[in-house]
Amino acid sequence: MKLLVGTGNKGKLLEITEKFGELPIELKSLKDFPEILQPEETGRTFAENAILKARWYSTQTGLWTLADDSGLEVEALGGLPGVISARYAGVGAKDEDNIRKLLDELKNERNRSARFVCSMAVSDEKGILRFLAEGVCDGIIAFKPRGKNGFGYDSVFIPKGFDKTFGELSSLVKQKISHRARALQKIISFFSDFIGNKT
Ligand code: IMP
Repeated sequence: MKLLVGTGNKGKLLEITEKFGELPIELKSLKDFPEILQPEETGRTFAENAILKARWYSTQTGLWTLADDSGLEVEALGGLPGVISARYAGVGAKDEDNIRKLLDELKNERNRSARFVCSMAVSDEKGILRFLAEGVCDGIIAFKPRGKNGFGYDSVFIPKGFDKTFGELSSLVKQKISHRARALQKIISFFSDFIGNKT
């Protein structure tokens, strides 16, 4: 079977391709469909956005599609930045701008609890949702950025059980415990069962 991975992000695509490894599934990416239009991410939750993207790409291509949406939820901010993680400091904001705003909002705040959340949705070729998975990585927000690895909020996120930020930890550690890795594991199990049931 063929599966379109509905992301334009090279790093994510590589991670997903590696994890799909031995499954007899031919992965396609948005690069294989240069004409494809991007949907507007109007969902109020990560799950809504992941579903919206998976269904959008599958109805345009007629392929089974996997799509994801993720971001950071900070307890003291009532779950913000949440679905607006990429544009927390405004449309077109850079990672540094978003981090600066976050640390500003948390100035004098003792509750630093936060979590990364990733939703992944699988739609069939008719645009019908077949599976939805969520992965969570709990942690706390550091008082200032540390480390250069990763992207987004990695330099201020200290995962539970560690005393370093994702910016300081190696990508191997992140690939084991991240919200995306955890959601992806559930997706792999879904497809293993699905293919197993068909053969
Ligand atoms: P996306 O939906 O995966 O593209 O993520 C949206 C935004 O959430 C990103 O632009 C980042 O700001 C933030 N984000 C999501 N995942 C991560 C991560 O693993 N590390 C740091 N920031 C992340």
